[in-house]
Amino acid sequence: MNPESTIAVLPGDGIGPEVVREAKKILQILESRLGWTFRLAEAPVGGAGFEAAGHPLPPESLKTAKEADAVLLGAVGGPKWDKLEFRFRPERALLGLRKEMELFANLRPAKVFPALAGASTLKLEVVEGLDIMVVRELIGGIYFGEPRGVETGPDGKRKGFNTLVYTEPEIERIARIAFETAQKRNNKVTSVDKANVLESTGLWREVVIEVHADYPGVSLDHMYVDNAAMQLVRAPKQFDVIVTTNMFGDILSDEASMLTGSIGMLPSASLGTRHAMYEPIHGSAPDIAGKDIANPLATILSVGMMFKHSFNRGDVNEWIEGAVGAVLDAGYRTGDIMSKGMKRVGTVEMGDRVAAELEPRIQC
Ligand code: IPM
Ligand code: MG
Repeated sequence: MNPESTIAVLPGDGIGPEVVREAKKILQILESRLGWTFRLAEAPVGGAGFEAAGHPLPPESLKTAKEADAVLLGAVGGPKWDKLEFRFRPERALLGLRKEMELFANLRPAKVFPALAGASTLKLEVVEGLDIMVVRELIGGIYFGEPRGVETGPDGKRKGFNTLVYTEPEIERIARIAFETAQKRNNKVTSVDKANVLESTGLWREVVIEVHADYPGVSLDHMYVDNAAMQLVRAPKQFDVIVTTNMFGDILSDEASMLTGSIGMLPSASLGTRHAMYEPIHGSAPDIAGKDIANPLATILSVGMMFKHSFNRGDVNEWIEGAVGAVLDAGYRTGDIMSKGMKRVGTVEMGDRVAAELEPRIQC
């Protein structure tokens, strides 16, 4: 019987719908060539959710996401909704989806395509051949810790506060993902914390060391986050897998993305035990929305990660990566990765070119 999968498609805001449209082209080609039926269930989230249903994560959209075999998300946010109360901001959709689907592990690979080694702001020899994986804890830490808020004290002065909290089971499960990920790569984990200052990340370090006992084939080292931020631009190739907390992972993965030439290149997978969501790590870039200049490659590569992690088809992921690599080798570039002598293309043409390169790579 031919496989059938339901994919919740959540385009979101800004360039989200544009890059998701290109990713859908990739799904269509795979569908026709592999005889695999993809039921695409589209739903509004973020600012689009707020406009459609008065909430960034309308209950219907959450239901669609939860019922799907996998979720593909574009991006959320925009100046139009920046003044809204916190709970109505587009970003709450993302955080809500992560929390409600228990997507505790966020995999953010930073891989330099050979053709783009010169596109990084760092020297070629520093980034050439780079392939690192940031494993970010996604539903704990300071993003979700209670108490949180802004209060006015008896002196009439306001106080803003958040709580950085990690429990042993939360640290243990993300550490296991990191060690298992490293086993399929180069067997090296660097755990990033601020154990010299923050008790919660002192516990993080202790638990990671305890879990490591189950993975004798993997080497483990530890770095304070300030040093890790520096090492990432000094000598990024020393890393294989970086495992870290929610907020440190947010920051370090943006930093790592620039090693690859552009944040427009980086896909991600957010995994839990029952659900999974795939999205580019870039945001909604409202300033370039609707102009056909956004880079769709991170979203297309996110579809690849979906096949690898949700559908157990690492081969499809390799075809997609191969197609992206071939288009880059042929000199096609969106504005964000443009360099002298290359051929500038828009969002749609980039998607078409990857689709055309993908087709002959598909083996049934
Ligand atoms: C990311 C984003 C989000 C985060 C925002 C939009 C809530 O920066 O996915 O990295 O901080 O996690
Ligand atoms: Mg971020």
